[in-house]
Amino acid sequence: MPSDTDALPRAHVSVLFDQVLAALAPRPDGCYIDATLGAGGHAAGILDASSPSGRLLGIDADPHALEIARQVLERFGTRVRLVHANFENLYAVAASCGFVPADGIVLDLGLSSMQLSDAQRGFSFQSEGALDMRFDPNTPTTAADLVNTLDERALADLIFEYGEERAARRIARAIVRARPIHTARQLADVIARAVGRQGKLHPATRTFQALRIAVNRELKVLERVLPQVVQVLKPGGRVAIIAFHSLEDRRVKNFFRTARELRVLTKHPITPTPEEIAANPRSRSAKLRVAEKVL
Ligand SMILES: C[S@@+](CC[C@H](N)C(=O)[O-])C[C@H]1O[C@@H](n2cnc3c(N)ncnc32)[C@H](O)[C@@H]1O
Repeated sequence: MPSDTDALPRAHVSVLFDQVLAALAPRPDGCYIDATLGAGGHAAGILDASSPSGRLLGIDADPHALEIARQVLERFGTRVRLVHANFENLYAVAASCGFVPADGIVLDLGLSSMQLSDAQRGFSFQSEGALDMRFDPNTPTTAADLVNTLDERALADLIFEYGEERAARRIARAIVRARPIHTARQLADVIARAVGRQGKLHPATRTFQALRIAVNRELKVLERVLPQVVQVLKPGGRVAIIAFHSLEDRRVKNFFRTARELRVLTKHPITPTPEEIAANPRSRSAKLRVAEKVL
């Protein structure tokens, strides 16, 4: 999970860009799906590599991301189709758009730098905007709802399970005492006071990850999309998935290992080079796994 907290809005730099393209090896007549479109970086790479007639379906839960990607991908004209949807509905969306079977699918999980740096979204520790954290504004529950309404035990369990945070109980107690909490900054300050600063990570990093995962049901939708990826791919088609923390990566690894229709092409996950990490620190925890449909 990206944890850099610059307050300035930032363009998103695609992570493991060359490695994703090498994995998918787009063909000129291929049909591809980017189910986490973001700023359209990987999508543009796929469209360039599959020109002149490769097609791409771009999906994102965040209408703002889709708007940005629409501009980035405008030059590809009718080769692109963009849909506002959650990838947990991948099969239905792909089928209704004529993208089943597909030659390749990319999932670049988590959030973009644009979302992280948008003060109104509440993803960053320094954000003075509402503690929101929803990818999709239609999602019913915000991070503020969870922080202000869950009982202490439920909050501690959530922070422990989705944040793998050892100080979950202490943090939950401090949050309950400080309620109501309205902004991300306020929450980060409460956590920092409760646990102090140890090491390089901001003490609120794991709690923020946990809330974001809970708000967007990230592990549930990942578990739902994985079997659909297999249904959508054509034999010989490939899927490339970038995970940013072990809870996601473990699910991808286990699914790839047990799905009989898949041949795993990455015995070990592909990780960014030191040069990529230096140029784009948010790439540092990325792990790319690739599989091919065999049946
Ligand atoms: C890391 S960014 C993708 C960046 C993109 N690969 C690029 O190169 O610009 C992840 C994107 O996936 C979207 N997203 C996360 N979970 C989603 C879900 N369940 N369904 C659809 N989109 C999702 C987020 O809104 C965000 O825009």
